[in-house]
Amino acid sequence: MIKVAIMGYGVVGSGVYEILRKNEKSITKKTGGKTLEVKYILDLRDFPDHENPALFTKNFDDIINDTEVSIVVEVMGGLKPAYEYSKAALLAGKNVITSNKELVAEHGTELMAIAKEQNVNYLFEASVGGGIPIISPLSQCLLANEIEEIYGILNGTTNYILTKMVKEGADFADALSEAQRLGYAERNPEADVEGHDARRKIAILASLASGKFVNWKEVPTEGITKITRQDVAFAEKYDAVIKLVGVAKIDPEGQVYIRVSPMVIPRTNQLADVNDVFNAILVKGDSIGDVMFYGRGAGKLPTASAVVADVIDAAKHIHINKLITWKKVDNNFMIDPETVPCRYFVRATNSAVINDFSGAEDLGNENGEWFFITEEMTEKEFKNTLGDRGAFIRVLD
Ligand code: HSE
Repeated sequence: MIKVAIMGYGVVGSGVYEILRKNEKSITKKTGGKTLEVKYILDLRDFPDHENPALFTKNFDDIINDTEVSIVVEVMGGLKPAYEYSKAALLAGKNVITSNKELVAEHGTELMAIAKEQNVNYLFEASVGGGIPIISPLSQCLLANEIEEIYGILNGTTNYILTKMVKEGADFADALSEAQRLGYAERNPEADVEGHDARRKIAILASLASGKFVNWKEVPTEGITKITRQDVAFAEKYDAVIKLVGVAKIDPEGQVYIRVSPMVIPRTNQLADVNDVFNAILVKGDSIGDVMFYGRGAGKLPTASAVVADVIDAAKHIHINKLITWKKVDNNFMIDPETVPCRYFVRATNSAVINDFSGAEDLGNENGEWFFITEEMTEKEFKNTLGDRGAFIRVLD
């Protein structure tokens, strides 16, 4: 019997409990006969109607001081007190499983190092892509490869909003309200729509793929709040859609280019068909080529599915560290994003702007705005030429 504590009984925490109960028999077989029993649920709220109210505690000490508990599930979100609790649990020799991308992106290096010292595991499959397997593939199945590129749609809320703008011609504000009404977007949707959530996720993936800590705060990030209905309509004329994309490229010297921004995606690209709250992540390895991961990037049971898989994995490796890690390095290995070539979809404020971009493809105009696509050029050259005469979205080629 392995005793588990769940910290945080919100959407994901209740999903973890539900799956552990619902699939108890098959999970026991998968752990080699060890039953996983939830001994505590930590939450400040009361849940009097729960099937087992005795499991609930408001006191973290109950968990940390109980030597029977060997797996702690942290699904509280945020840094405080999740960081302090996770660190204490690892130092006490307990395995910690999390869905908390904020914490992994900020303190993952330290928490993984403590897990290694203590011969336990800090596992975070659910922190990126919800239910989609992506951390395990990068830290296990694809280990034979040098990872050259990762790009994908990493945020379900923004994908839902942009899908509504493309399919229904909705403008950003209406699509956001609908996402909030359906419970996809938070009441304060800033982390999603400004790209911070996707930025943490791509930083985690780039860190795993490169083996070096990529600081999420250094990821150049643009959200989707400035995308207009006209942008969507003119991208459509180019047979393309607009999506929020996280990109990380690792060159043969280990230098990393990373960015989160809206991108114009030609319909020939597989990501163009990833709609609503779905996520998709494409990984390019030097031996395997392209691999695509697609599925539900958020939601109760999909996210809990990834958490419980990590719980089972921890149960199977109860005192064996799996060596999932990256290192903080001192030298600067980030590629200056202004030096990276790209094509640009431009919304210009006057008709003459296009003449300054040789080979640009004219997409037409509406209400005093001119739309065109440039040839490939570095961002520095592009921005110098455009100046303040318009807005732009990068093209994913
Ligand atoms: N807010 C996130 C999203 C939840 O919309 O994708 C899952 O990380």
